Amino acid sequence: MTRSRTQTRSLQGAVVVALVLMLFEEGAAADLARGRNIALRWCSQCHIVASGQSTGSDSVPTFVEIGESEHFNQARLSRFLASPPHSRMPDLSLTRTEIADLVAYIKAQHR
Ligand code: HEC
Repeated sequence: MTRSRTQTRSLQGAVVVALVLMLFEEGAAADLARGRNIALRWCSQCHIVASGQSTGSDSVPTFVEIGESEHFNQARLSRFLASPPHSRMPDLSLTRTEIADLVAYIKAQHR
């Protein structure tokens, strides 16, 4: 009842700061587990994205091949995923966070 307006304000301020920090954390660190989930969900129809997966399209590079490719360093891979060049590969309109997670996941793939 007697809580002052300033106290309420600073409480709201603290909540806003906490939310912003959470969002920042979310965007800052690429996350392998999230990358794997996105890969299984959006890419596995065509690409072999994880060991143990047996179905994918013919003549589509696997994520191990892409991960080990000299050509696809992180920057090139991010650019490719941000807007796939006119190819047989669909543009999935990924967010920057999704791309960062995917790149981290793909670059972590090895035979
Ligand atoms: C509908 C099928 C399909 C889906 C879904 C798909 N891709 Fe592809 N992708 C392809 C094909 C086909 C190619 C080969 C492109 C070409 O030959 O023009 C390709 C090529 C690529 C390449 C370039 C490989 C190279 O060596 O040139 C990358 C990287 C890639 N895909 C990543 C992804 C990621 C990440 C996802 C999920 C977000 C995804 N793809 C979803 C079909 C697909």
